[in-house]
Amino acid sequence: MKALTFVTQKGGSGKSTLCISLAVAAREAGHTVCILEMDRQATVSDWLDHRTVDGPEVAQIDAAQLEPVMERLRDSAYDYVFIDTPGVDSPGTLSAIRAADLCIIPCRPTPADLRAFKPTLAAVYRLEKKFAFVLNQTPPRSYRVRDAADGLAVLGILPDVNIVARTDHQDAIGLGLGVTELNPKGQAAAEVRKLWSWIERKAQAGKGLTGQGERHVQAA
Ligand SMILES: Nc1ncnc2c1ncn2[C@@H]1O[C@H](COP(=O)(O)OP(=O)(O)O)[C@@H](O)[C@H]1O
Ligand SMILES: [Mg+2]
Repeated sequence: MKALTFVTQKGGSGKSTLCISLAVAAREAGHTVCILEMDRQATVSDWLDHRTVDGPEVAQIDAAQLEPVMERLRDSAYDYVFIDTPGVDSPGTLSAIRAADLCIIPCRPTPADLRAFKPTLAAVYRLEKKFAFVLNQTPPRSYRVRDAADGLAVLGILPDVNIVARTDHQDAIGLGLGVTELNPKGQAAAEVRKLWSWIERKAQAGKGLTGQGERHVQAA
């Protein structure tokens, strides 16, 4: 079992949206997954309320429950546990980083977002965790984004795909679907599937295989 924690203090960067659509994409790729929701805003639970399709399982938990729940899940049949965190620096967020095999830091390509992930990154470093940035809500084409992205990609901490701002993401969440279910042939779906396969490789990679993040702890 691998735990993927979606984390950054910046609200609205796409933690819940990506957590949901990636969990759905992971299921479509044949994996067993569950989502732990630590955010009282309850985006994932709301999504589940609108969902008419079966799975994935979702549990709302608080900071104190995370460790015992993870303990149980380590021996469970789940391939991946997705952890959605609130956009604040809290004990819950720290324990969610601690529980992670890979921290995923969504970030919009804006100066405010790029500044806002620094405290998150400091915590991720302190706890010696593997991490990856995901550039989310990007324009379809932007040389500025691509330039920034190329440098990070070389370090192995940026996927080979950005998630473009597309209404499919908003529509899917509203209807209780992942983007790959809403519009399987759409570009948003293609990006999310590509992102999932990158994340899967990254989560499963051993030490030293894919760059800087790999210097850090292997929690398995
Ligand atoms: N790639 C995207 N394209 C369009 N809208 C997006 C995208 N990612 C997120 N959003 C929208 O941005 C808002 C914030 O996303 P959310 O996942 O709730 O952020 P967070 O969980 O980090 O606070 C939501 O309204 C969501 O629909
Ligand atoms: Mg959220």
